[in-house]
Amino acid sequence: MRVVIQDNYSKMCQWAANYIAKKIKAHKEDRPFVLGLPTGSSPIGVYQELARMNKAGEITFKNVVTFNMDEYLGLPREHDQSYWYFMHDNFFNHIDIPAENINILNGMAEDPVAECARYEEKIASYGGVDLFLGGIGVDGHLAFNEPFTSLTSRTGVRDLTTDTRIVNGRFFENDPEKVPAQALSVGIGTVMDSKEVLILISGHNKARALAASVEGGVSQKWTCSALQLHPAAIIACDEPACGELTVDTYKYFLDIERKERL
Ligand code: GLP
Repeated sequence: MRVVIQDNYSKMCQWAANYIAKKIKAHKEDRPFVLGLPTGSSPIGVYQELARMNKAGEITFKNVVTFNMDEYLGLPREHDQSYWYFMHDNFFNHIDIPAENINILNGMAEDPVAECARYEEKIASYGGVDLFLGGIGVDGHLAFNEPFTSLTSRTGVRDLTTDTRIVNGRFFENDPEKVPAQALSVGIGTVMDSKEVLILISGHNKARALAASVEGGVSQKWTCSALQLHPAAIIACDEPACGELTVDTYKYFLDIERKERL
């Protein structure tokens, strides 16, 4: 695992956007580059920088296919808190990606279980995800894989914990009861199958989750800790998120990442 520590949120996003752009540009195969994407506040700066690069002609998304991590169950696309809406508002409407290349779980599917199976099959039909960008929750959830979700889980229906509904309540008039109680989410196993994983961790409130991801044992209590078993996982984080790392771990990653090795 690599842990890339940047001074602040903005530099973390810049680093991650450069990394993603470099991977897309280096992709020379006939098949599209398959990019997994998250929602949340963490990736917003990355989306803004990628959109800027796109407008400046430095990168194109014409040969990129995306799969989003998750979607609330029961929210229609048009709802301003659906992840479909979020992704279009914050990213897809600002880049040259063809609409048919965008994949987001349908939170209004009549048969959510079948929708999740279809999603897994579609990812497989592209030969898997090349790079999965992600964020994590305060409790270490990756996508909507809350504590004690199986580390081999596949795309499926998830119950949200009260803690997560309280945290996400900030987008629902500060009322956790208005946050949908369930979501559709890729599994930890789905993320682990991707060729590379890049996780953004920013801010003091994620410090425990970062320490659990990097220094704790692999445990279903912190589903993000599964990353330790991925052959090519990168965590891009900022200084405030490093608050719970031991000093030697912190120094180790600063030292080994000193030379820029995008
Ligand atoms: C939600 C999403 C996650 C996301 C998390 C963190 O719960 N389902 O995929 O990583 O929020 O969000 P933020 O980046 O806003 O802290």
